[in-house]
Amino acid sequence: MKILAISGSLRKDSLNTQLLRTVAEFVDQGTSIDVFDLADIPLYNGDLDGDTKPAPVQALLDAIADADGMLIATPEYNYSVSGVLKNAIDWASRPAFNSVMCGKPTGVMSSSMSTLGGARAQVHLRDVLAATLTPVYLAPDFALVSAHTAFDEKGRLVDEATRDFLQKYMRGYTQWVASQ
Ligand code: FNR
Repeated sequence: MKILAISGSLRKDSLNTQLLRTVAEFVDQGTSIDVFDLADIPLYNGDLDGDTKPAPVQALLDAIADADGMLIATPEYNYSVSGVLKNAIDWASRPAFNSVMCGKPTGVMSSSMSTLGGARAQVHLRDVLAATLTPVYLAPDFALVSAHTAFDEKGRLVDEATRDFLQKYMRGYTQWVASQ
């Protein structure tokens, strides 16, 4: 199974990107999780959205089309998703109701330094994904709270209860993707 992981943060030390790298620990050997780098995706411009698209956009569309499922980790910026993530989704959502995102089983998670772990951004993200006809894994929600203290210097999630939760999440999520 191929999972395309998308982080809504471009930061080198992004906690959301780190979270996506970490989940690879919790899937079977036959499942790959590749993190797509959104750094080169230009701002959405309908004039550029023709049959020939900017190369980084085409690469994103191809990667989504090729994946069995998507896993998105969003930061929370002012109670919503990052502009970087929304912009990428806007590109990938065209043509409306017939895009590569339509029907692509998707898991949503977030991490933030706050005690809510970006949960408000996840709610917005689920709304956005509804507009793109992207089915979202329903439960349980996973929000990594106080994310700046969650990883050790090797990037390993420290808290055993969180690791256990994430392992169960990934088991349920991959079973759901397989069933779609
Ligand atoms: C933030 N941050 C933030 N955190 C939060 O919990 N709720 C919020 O509304 C916001 N708003 C916000 C706005 C902007 C413009 C920035 C730059 C940051 C903090 C943010 O979630 C935190 O820095 C995360 O660590 C960002 O994710 P990455 O880059 O670590 O993946």
